[in-house]
Amino acid sequence: MGRLPSRRYASEDLHIRGVLGGGVAQASRDQWSSSFGFFAAAVGSAVGLGNMWRFSYLTAEKGGAAFVALYLVFTLVIGIPVLLAELTLGRGAQKGPIGALAHFGGERWKALGALFVVTGFLILSYYSVIAGWTLRYALESLTVGIPRDAAAHFGSVSEGADAFLFHALFMAITMVIVGGGVSRGIERVSVVAMPLLFVLVCALALYGATLENSAGGYRYYLNADFANALSLDVLVAAAGQAFFSLSLGMGAMMTFASYLPREAHLTRESWVIASADFGVAFLAGLMVFPIIFALGLQGAVGESTLGALFVALPGAFAEMGGTGRFVGLLFFVALVVGALTSALSLFEVVVSAAIDELGWSRPKAVLIMGVLVTLLGAGAAWNIAVLDLMDQVANNLFLLAGGLALAVFTGWVMDEPIAEARAGLGSSRGLGIWRFLLRWVVPPVLIFVLWHSVPATLENLWMFFAG
Ligand code: TRP
Repeated sequence: MGRLPSRRYASEDLHIRGVLGGGVAQASRDQWSSSFGFFAAAVGSAVGLGNMWRFSYLTAEKGGAAFVALYLVFTLVIGIPVLLAELTLGRGAQKGPIGALAHFGGERWKALGALFVVTGFLILSYYSVIAGWTLRYALESLTVGIPRDAAAHFGSVSEGADAFLFHALFMAITMVIVGGGVSRGIERVSVVAMPLLFVLVCALALYGATLENSAGGYRYYLNADFANALSLDVLVAAAGQAFFSLSLGMGAMMTFASYLPREAHLTRESWVIASADFGVAFLAGLMVFPIIFALGLQGAVGESTLGALFVALPGAFAEMGGTGRFVGLLFFVALVVGALTSALSLFEVVVSAAIDELGWSRPKAVLIMGVLVTLLGAGAAWNIAVLDLMDQVANNLFLLAGGLALAVFTGWVMDEPIAEARAGLGSSRGLGIWRFLLRWVVPPVLIFVLWHSVPATLENLWMFFAG
């Protein structure tokens, strides 16, 4: 993290650009107060339940290291180009997805931006339910301790009124922070939360290494079994995870970049954000698998449903007595912190769209949209199968299709994407490759992945509703 010099962004700059940009509205737009502030918020968006909960259960389910390797390849070849595209569009237009797409592509692209906002709505509504579980587990570790029979406990708190209550509580916290605005709410929380999260994850990974019998966990995590990994199902999951983990495909990074001043160095930001995101996911694996294997609970990993993390790990912690309780507390606090900073970005997409497009005030947007997201989450809170379905639909359809649309838009439709990406302090190194990837690599790969994920996801939807 030390590689980024934290310059303060000049607020006069905002004002001048606002005037030149032709409007009072522009001049009063909020902005990150320093480059570290943006970095912390963007990494905060990327690093979340995706890195810890989703990454671990997918790695367990899809065959360990081979899945991790595929996910890394997708991050490099598809994730980083699309991330840079989002940053370029957002900073250039100084608008969230609806305004940015209209700015660079004309009015008819607004519909795509609107679809992004809907996706954000959908993701946040179930994301917050899982975040609610983590909040509950953290509070329980602090107070009464999580019961030894972790499976039964998870069964009783993961669905129903309890789950809804903690989901609503988590949304309330998110609403308070986003209500504070970009620099005074999101940024102020992120600059504290991100370093804290990083320290916690490192400490827990080191702790895992001190446990006896943790070797099996490393072997499981780091031994690639490519024979199993090259199925289409694994490919789709790895691509979806690359997008989800980097918060791509629905304009979240675009929205955050819209609060950047002209001078921000976008190519560097995209590399640093992606490295931090992958780094934390990798570290999360180094903490999860050794701890579980050290206590001989690999069976719970093998079951690998999306709740495994909430069963295997608390079970392991409960076995360890007092130390376990403390380690468990740190672990669930890390999850809550990660989930919270990610939820901020999802919610900011929805809120800023209501402010920019509907002309609402921030408090009004936060209140109305927050209540709607909370209500929409009721389905996921009541039934874990609904949550799973929403996650599949959001990732395997919406984010992948959104990423495809963004690559085509930036690579083929927009004028001079390279000049726009380079503006400010950017360099042009690698930007030719970037556009080449956006034009010729990202679209075919995503079409291939969608070709398989669309029918599979629709089939799951159908099976759910047909019983
Ligand atoms: N990236 C976050 C995580 O890994 C989740 C997230 C935040 C997200 N904003 C997003 C996912 C936008 C997709 C789109 O937990």
